[in-house]
Amino acid sequence: MKTINHITWHYPAVTKKHRHALNGHKSCVLWFTGLSGSGKSTLANAVDYKLFQHGVKSYVLDGDNIRHGLNQDLGFRVEDRKENIRRIGEVAKLFVDSGQMISTAFISPFREDREIVRNMLEPEEFIEIYLKCPIQICESRDPKGLYKKARNGKIADFTGISSPYEIPVDPEITIDTEKLSIEQSVDKIFSYFKEKKIL
Ligand code: PPS
Repeated sequence: MKTINHITWHYPAVTKKHRHALNGHKSCVLWFTGLSGSGKSTLANAVDYKLFQHGVKSYVLDGDNIRHGLNQDLGFRVEDRKENIRRIGEVAKLFVDSGQMISTAFISPFREDREIVRNMLEPEEFIEIYLKCPIQICESRDPKGLYKKARNGKIADFTGISSPYEIPVDPEITIDTEKLSIEQSVDKIFSYFKEKKIL
């Protein structure tokens, strides 16, 4: 029995395995990481849509949306980003426990923070998907006009300009979003599911 500071862990009557059996698929985190404008939200939603069509229990946690609610108290300094990712890791873990496939779309710029989330889960439950895209391309896309504002000094600590992005060392999947279409990218991710017998 796990007890920390007089708080005791309660084990659920319905386990993750029971939920997998009911759903007919396993649960895991698809951890999309990359610069602003690299395609995280677009791809996470495209994968989620296809999973939904296949009858898979899935959901998306998106950086912008989560910062409107759960994490609205956090900014973009290193410590805030760290806390942002820690909380998302905990939420993602709950989704995995509930038997779902959860796609997370956060810049998550620091290797150490991503590794902390990886280590919260079983090895096969964390799939890091690095969206590789040169900053020049992300900046030319600039869908929200944020790069322009960052260049003009109107946004501080902007990833890739005034705050670092640490490239994943050994991600499960790398998607070159400069070269691949959305459809090709989704296919690459689904090929991985097939290869690893996730679906
Ligand atoms: S992080 O680094 O993982 O904590 O960031 P995340 O929670 O994913 O939030 C990124 C989105 O916030 C907007 N935004 C910024 N991004 C980076 N740096 C700064 N300073 C910043 N300020 C606001 C931006 O819309 C990011 O969304 P994406 O989808 O990445 O463009």
